[in-house]
Amino acid sequence: MAEPIAFRLNGVDRRTEVPPDTRLIDFLRDRLGLTAAKKACGIGRCGACAVLIDGRAVNACLVMAWQMDGADIVTPEGLETLPHAKTVRQALAEANAFQCGYCASGFVVVLTAYLRDHPGAQEQDIRAALEGNICRCTGYRSILRGAMAAAR
Ligand code: FES
Repeated sequence: MAEPIAFRLNGVDRRTEVPPDTRLIDFLRDRLGLTAAKKACGIGRCGACAVLIDGRAVNACLVMAWQMDGADIVTPEGLETLPHAKTVRQALAEANAFQCGYCASGFVVVLTAYLRDHPGAQEQDIRAALEGNICRCTGYRSILRGAMAAAR
């Protein structure tokens, strides 16, 4: 049976019904057509599906859509409302941080939230903050270079 939920999504109040077995990442991508957050591992290991829920980066494959009742969700599509998002994207682009790009939105979401809360973060802290994000092209050096530039 579908559950009625009300939430804020990228700054817009929404109200809908969701099946109790639908995960947030599937709800966003398949039902709402918001495909910037990617689904890769599906078990909380890669960070490709990261979105902000009430300001915190969360893997959207690990939460159910019905749990979003009352939540404030920001997907990569709505990230521009956060002051650090443009800086992070620009710094990562200038560092040629990504190869295939599948992991990019997850890195951007996590890094934007982290630098919002930790301006001027040092390399070891940024490394720790990005531990949950996997790049299968193994481009970590350039990602870290971009992240450090964004932190300055
Ligand atoms: Fe959610 Fe990998 S798809 S963490």
